[in-house]
Amino acid sequence: MKYIIDTDPGIDDAIAIMLGVKNNLDVIGFTLVSGNIPVVKSEKNLKIIQDFLETNIKMYNGSVENLCNHQTAEFAHGIDGLGYAVFPDNNKRKFEKLSAEDFIISSSKKYQDNLTIICLGPLTNLANAIKKDKTLYKRIKHVLIMGASYNPTNIEKYIEFNVNVDPEAAELVFNTPFEDIKVVTHEIGITSFIEREYMDNLRNSEHLVSRFIGEMAQKYMEFSYEKYGVLGLTAPDPTAIASIINQNVIKFEPCQIKLVKNKDNKNECHVDLTSNSNIKISTNFDLELFRKIFKNTFN
Ligand code: RIB
Ligand code: CA
Repeated sequence: MKYIIDTDPGIDDAIAIMLGVKNNLDVIGFTLVSGNIPVVKSEKNLKIIQDFLETNIKMYNGSVENLCNHQTAEFAHGIDGLGYAVFPDNNKRKFEKLSAEDFIISSSKKYQDNLTIICLGPLTNLANAIKKDKTLYKRIKHVLIMGASYNPTNIEKYIEFNVNVDPEAAELVFNTPFEDIKVVTHEIGITSFIEREYMDNLRNSEHLVSRFIGEMAQKYMEFSYEKYGVLGLTAPDPTAIASIINQNVIKFEPCQIKLVKNKDNKNECHVDLTSNSNIKISTNFDLELFRKIFKNTFN
C-alpha cells in the first residue's frame, strides 16, 4: 500500500510523520495544508522533519486558499509550529511544482486502490482534488482522517479543529462515496497519550530523532495539560498513524456524520452509528498497544 500524508505540521503531525516513516510506511508524498500554522510557515517544518528522518520524499504545497478561515493553533504548536525548537531557514530542499490536489489526482491514476490518503489536517486539499476530479473516489478506495468529534455521552459537542477550520471541505469529503473512509476523533486523540516522564526522558535519548521529539513535545504537553489536564503528550495524529501500523490500535464502527453549525457559528459533528456505511468512526482504542508502538519507535 502506498500513502500520501496530507499534513499541517504542527507538533503532533511531525511526530505522526516520523512514527509512520520509521515504521516503513511507503509514503510517496507529503501534501501541505494550512491548519495548525499557515501553509507558508509549515513548508520549512516539513523540510526540517525530512532532515531529521534523512528522507527525500516529494513535497507538494496546498493552494493559497488553504489559508482557510485564518484560524491557526500556534497556542498549541508554538510560533513556528514545532514547539520551542527553532531552526534557521537555510534548507535547500524544494517543493514540487505540482499542487497538492493535482498530486493527489495524478497519484490516484497511477496507484488506484493501492493508495491511501492520510489526512492529518483540515480537508482542504482532498476537497480541492474531489472538486477538480469528480471520479477520484472511483480510484482511491481508502482515506484515513484525523478530524471529527464523537462522544455519545456528552451533550455539549466538542468543536474539532481540522473540521472547524474548513467545514465546507469536511462536508464534501464526508459526503464523497470513497469505499473506505476511517475517521479518528478528537476524543481518541486526547485519551491516547504518552506519559510526560517518558517524553521528558526522550530528550536524553542517544537517538537524534527521539531527542528532537522530546524537545518538540514540551510545548504540546503544556497545551495538553492546560486544555485537557493530561500529564503527557496527547497524540491525535500519531494515534491515527499507529492505526495503520497495527490495525488493532483503533476500533472503528460504521456511522453517518453530519456537520451542524451551532449558535456560535462553529461546526459540530453530529455522528450516528449505523449498521452499514462507507464511513467508520473511531469508537475505542488500545492505549497500551499504541504506547508499545510509540516506545518501540522512539526510545
Ligand atoms: O484536533 C486535532 C487535530 O487538529 C490534529 O490533527 C492537530 O494537528 C490539528 O491539526
Ligand atoms: Ca494535524
